[in-house]
Amino acid sequence: MSDSKVYQYPRYYAIGYRWNTDVEADFIATCVKLYGSESLPAPPARQAGAKRFLDIGCGSGRHMVELATRGYQMTGIDLSPEMVAYVKEEAAKSKLPITASVGDLRDLKVTGRFDAAYCFMDTFRFLLTNKVIVSHLRRVADLLVPGGLYLLDFWIPHQWDQMSNEIHQWEQTEGETTVRVFYLQHPETVDPIAQTFEDELVFEVREGDQTKEIRGGPTRTRLILPQEFRALVDNSGVFDLMATHGEFDVTEPLSRESLTWRMISVLRKR
Ligand SMILES: C[S@@+](CC[C@H](N)C(=O)[O-])C[C@H]1O[C@@H](n2cnc3c(N)ncnc32)[C@H](O)[C@@H]1O
Repeated sequence: MSDSKVYQYPRYYAIGYRWNTDVEADFIATCVKLYGSESLPAPPARQAGAKRFLDIGCGSGRHMVELATRGYQMTGIDLSPEMVAYVKEEAAKSKLPITASVGDLRDLKVTGRFDAAYCFMDTFRFLLTNKVIVSHLRRVADLLVPGGLYLLDFWIPHQWDQMSNEIHQWEQTEGETTVRVFYLQHPETVDPIAQTFEDELVFEVREGDQTKEIRGGPTRTRLILPQEFRALVDNSGVFDLMATHGEFDVTEPLSRESLTWRMISVLRKR
């Protein structure tokens, strides 16, 4: 789990992570058309109404707002009460079909049936053991319609010697507020047997002539390798791995040439 302090600041999170949200929403919508229940030779009987998506670890709700604007019915859960309160405020302001509640991805208490679920931006790596990962996959499958999709996006090391030694930073501005996000990995915390290590988010926030730093504090996360992930999905017995990508682009499969540090996977419920 991550109770990183940065997740207590949803507005700063929303500013810092706003880039690429429309591309990521395009990816979700395209995958649903390409691989979702409608693409099956005999599509299951359709339920009336808009397609329903579940956002697991929804954060500030950036994908939910974008997808709700496009006509999807959105449900999100997140461990952080501050994030959930922020999503509810945004939904009320925009009158979009979004509901959010506090919840834990290790023990999903959501009700309803969804056409697709997704868990983006490394949130999946808060599941620390194989047992917990497989049980999470089975629980998500229970919440999906036949042929429903589960889309995942998490960091993978690009080279073996980078197992836990990466730093990324970027900056985003909205109005008077600039948020610089630092993602740090702490190599000294690596447990090579459990394949876990600590990483950390730090926000440097500039508002007018004021600057402050919010250190998230270290969070233990899992390192999941591509072939291991494939085996875990097989082991779950409930999903087929339809595709893996290195970018949010359905035409670009994950390959040695992929330039990013993430693996984006498309799972379809059996
Ligand atoms: C890196 S953010 C990703 C947010 C969003 N998916 C996005 O792409 O912007 C990780 C989110 O996961 C939430 N989180 C951490 N541990 C969790 C858990 N055990 N169950 C549910 N949410 C969790 C955090 O509060 C945070 O909002």
